[in-house]
Amino acid sequence: SMYVPEFKKLELYKYKDFVLPEFVINTLDDIEKFDTCADDIWVVSFPRSGTTWIQEIVYLINNNANTHAADCSFLDNRFPYLEFMTPGVKEIEKMQKPRFIKSHLPYSLLPTSVHEKKPKIVYIARNAKDVAVSYYYFVRLLYPVTRYDAEFKDFFELFVNDKVMYAPWSKHVQEFWENRNEDNIFFLTYEDLKRDTAGTIDRLANFFGKSLTKEQTNTIMRYCSFENMKINPTTNHSWFETYGVADFKKGDFIRKGCVGDWANHFDEHMNNKMNSMIAYRFMNSDLEFSYRG
Ligand code: A3P
Repeated sequence: SMYVPEFKKLELYKYKDFVLPEFVINTLDDIEKFDTCADDIWVVSFPRSGTTWIQEIVYLINNNANTHAADCSFLDNRFPYLEFMTPGVKEIEKMQKPRFIKSHLPYSLLPTSVHEKKPKIVYIARNAKDVAVSYYYFVRLLYPVTRYDAEFKDFFELFVNDKVMYAPWSKHVQEFWENRNEDNIFFLTYEDLKRDTAGTIDRLANFFGKSLTKEQTNTIMRYCSFENMKINPTTNHSWFETYGVADFKKGDFIRKGCVGDWANHFDEHMNNKMNSMIAYRFMNSDLEFSYRG
């Protein structure tokens, strides 16, 4: 069904329970046919939840902390975004194994082969308040395609009313939370990753059946620090500008990297509204987020 486009050029459509941009709608057939292998490695998330951060960590854990391999090509090439046109599903099919795949699709919209072959999936979730703020700056960064230049209070309304790409955030997170105990799923939060990066890296290594030396863990910690990822051209998405999809005068893809930036953007009305949305949607859930770093 046609969805009222909120962004002038990036049209959004309602598909099943989710809101998807046109470029995803157009590749849904290919995505559904995508044949994952048991040894593929997935990172799945709602946008702006720390995807890029955990992708680089997962990549290094599975490459003996070899940062030279990471330096050689853009993260988006080493770890392509399934729904995106370039490199797209066809390119992923040709990749060397183990293949690294990023997706923002919710659990219920992942290709059937994922549920059959059960490749390892790391799902990262982040508190909705910080996601909303981060998403706002992201949509502005993508000005050349979104033409979005409104104030935060306007974006906030889109977010709480599930009118942004891959919304609703709550259902996205809940679907994975409900499946977190499957052997092939590792559910983590941005807030936990921030609070205990080293411990999370070790738990992840264990999930992948790898054991890292202290030195390797430290290498990953350093390489994946906020400061390094912000200036590293293979992770900071500077290539977006080359392709005309972002305007870095408006900000950075790796922006602030903290828990609680929402408090600098929310007024009392927004906070109450977000709190009631969360309370209502998570009434029957034991998932809880932290909102302060
Ligand atoms: P902020 O906008 O709050 O800074 P995604 O990769 O899913 O789009 O998520 C982007 C968010 O993750 C941004 O949040 C970005 O700054 C943050 N991020 C990226 N790399 C990070 C790192 N190494 N440490 C902490 N946060 C990071």
